[in-house]
Amino acid sequence: MSTVHAYAATEANGILKPFEYELGSIGPQEVDIAVESCGICHSDLSMLQDAWGMTQFPFVPGHEVIGKVFAVGEHVSHLAIGDRVGLGWHSGYCMTCDQCLEGHHNLCSTAEPTIVGRHGGFADKVRAQAASVAKLPDELDPKKAGPLLCGGMAVFNPLVQYDMSPTGNVGVIGIGGLGHLALKFADAWGCHMTAFTSSGLKQQEALTLGAHETINSRDPDAIKAAAGRFDLLLSTVNVPLDWNAFLETLKPRGRLHMLGAVTEPLDLNLIPMMFNQLSVGSSPVGSPATIRKMLAFAARHNINPVTEHFSFDQVNDAMERLQSGKARYRIVLNHD
Ligand SMILES: NC(=O)c1ccc[n+]([C@@H]2O[C@H](COP(=O)([O-])OP(=O)(O)OC[C@H]3O[C@@H](n4cnc5c(N)ncnc54)[C@H](OP(=O)(O)O)[C@@H]3O)[C@@H](O)[C@H]2O)c1
Ligand SMILES: [Zn+2]
Ligand SMILES: [Zn+2]
Repeated sequence: MSTVHAYAATEANGILKPFEYELGSIGPQEVDIAVESCGICHSDLSMLQDAWGMTQFPFVPGHEVIGKVFAVGEHVSHLAIGDRVGLGWHSGYCMTCDQCLEGHHNLCSTAEPTIVGRHGGFADKVRAQAASVAKLPDELDPKKAGPLLCGGMAVFNPLVQYDMSPTGNVGVIGIGGLGHLALKFADAWGCHMTAFTSSGLKQQEALTLGAHETINSRDPDAIKAAAGRFDLLLSTVNVPLDWNAFLETLKPRGRLHMLGAVTEPLDLNLIPMMFNQLSVGSSPVGSPATIRKMLAFAARHNINPVTEHFSFDQVNDAMERLQSGKARYRIVLNHD
């Protein structure tokens, strides 16, 4: 038996307080991870606020975990005690549905999110199905790599899903945790990158993160001037913007891919989409195989998240900092 020392909220928008629970005996396909660090994704904040109406309390956030395996179930063969691993948004899949069997585990209808109906990685330990856990390449810094597991995966996945051409033009709307990693990944992929940001300071900073140019995401004239330019737009913003203005910036056959969790219905004009054969879509993180690809790509191209660090006992300050919108660009909690 192993006691987990975690941080939990007991109500929506509540303070995260020390909370303990027992892991119980390990299942044959599971691993237990001693958490070294955990990134804070905006989804942790939205879940703390119960913004999606699916939070269960006590709620332990945290789904960008880096740590070392300290126990393995009897049928786990690809991970061993002592391996340094990462765990992202999903901590388990059914492994038998068509989506799982076709390698699209992240689309499994019963995939288990790490922080929904179970306790996440704001803790000293976390358990997960071994298939959802990836070995961390040695080249990646374990103190900073956590945000790759959810934020990084979310923005890398569309490059893989849509066979993004390295000669393509990609725009990223919103340069936060996901957005700054989108710039880094798609720049390394070879694309010409444009950052859309509402922040004057970030317009300069984005150029050091892989953007070749920047546009004010709240300036209608500047957006209009980019008409017909992009093959792919990745939106990481969770508030409604003038999506029709952004559709105008796509090339024929372009795609507006909405990664940010906008909860309002989309207001979209069909006719420009029809005449230009545009697509609008979304996707959740990525499959285990794509997570491995993403980590290998990050290691090869030296892609590290740009991070701010807090200790786990400063978790409430860290959440407040994320909410303020001032974080550059992802906050990571570390055990000292
Ligand atoms: N689909 C997936 O797989 C997936 C995975 C993880 C997270 N998510 C979701 O993706 C979204 C982003 O997460 P994150 O962790 O990257 O959040 P974040 O670090 O807070 O970044 C969001 C960015 O959106 C922009 N933004 C926020 N409010 C805005 C406003 N009123 N007007 C214009 N721009 C605004 C800001 O960029 P600028 O300062 O540059 O304007 C901000 O940095 C969240 O909704 C999260 O739940 C989705
Ligand atoms: Zn996330
Ligand atoms: Zn399944």
